[in-house]
Amino acid sequence: MIAARIIGHRGASSLAPENTLAAIRAGANAGVLWVEIDVRLLGDGTAVVHHDKTVDRCTDGTGLLSHYDRMSIRRLDAGRWFGDEFAGERIPLLPEALALIRDLGLGVNLELKATSRSAARRLGAVVVGELTTAVLPWEGVLVSSFEPAALEASRKQARSLLIGCIWSRLPRDWRQQAATLGAVSIHCNWRYLTERTAHAVKAAGFELYCYTVNNSSAFLPYWEWGVDGIFTDRPQDFLVSGPPTNG
Ligand code: G3P
Ligand code: MG
Repeated sequence: MIAARIIGHRGASSLAPENTLAAIRAGANAGVLWVEIDVRLLGDGTAVVHHDKTVDRCTDGTGLLSHYDRMSIRRLDAGRWFGDEFAGERIPLLPEALALIRDLGLGVNLELKATSRSAARRLGAVVVGELTTAVLPWEGVLVSSFEPAALEASRKQARSLLIGCIWSRLPRDWRQQAATLGAVSIHCNWRYLTERTAHAVKAAGFELYCYTVNNSSAFLPYWEWGVDGIFTDRPQDFLVSGPPTNG
């Protein structure tokens, strides 16, 4: 299996608290070449790495992420819920995460999460600004979203940005929507993917990525369908590590 096809989901979220710097490092240590992280805006427009609308599940705080700002978000512990050894992890500001990803030499899939069209547009613009400042190689960045408005806004700011459309199940007009947005890839829930659809996506010239795949043996047939890569919480199950053997 090729390491580039195995993308650490939320960093590597079985090994460290999801969407933290520790999770990104854990992915790199497990051997992934790419990580996926989720990006949202705080109330003051700061982009941070976080999956949920609220901070309840993954921090010691409560409430909507949008009720926090750049200062108050730093007071939350985003690691202890996962294990005492991760106490002190914070919700990363996007520039911190991008700097680490650059330093580790990883590629990154930024998944843009927003609760409204206007928030999606703001997020798309903010993310491109942060990417430009971070000086990441554009070929090592893929911006994806369930929200077309976020992708439109990103591409408007940076025409050469690689973008991917996410659907749980592909809609009837997936080909037209992806082409209109200028997407290079299609990301979908592997549980709903059929062989026929996989072949159609590949025949239409898109890359095909599946989430969230944590069962390596159940996924084996899907590779034959032409799937280019997977998002997994458990990269350690897909990547062979350890010293090379003779012969
Ligand atoms: O980007 C793929 C996958 O992460 C989408 O679902 O909810 O895990 O962000 P979710
Ligand atoms: Mg995600």
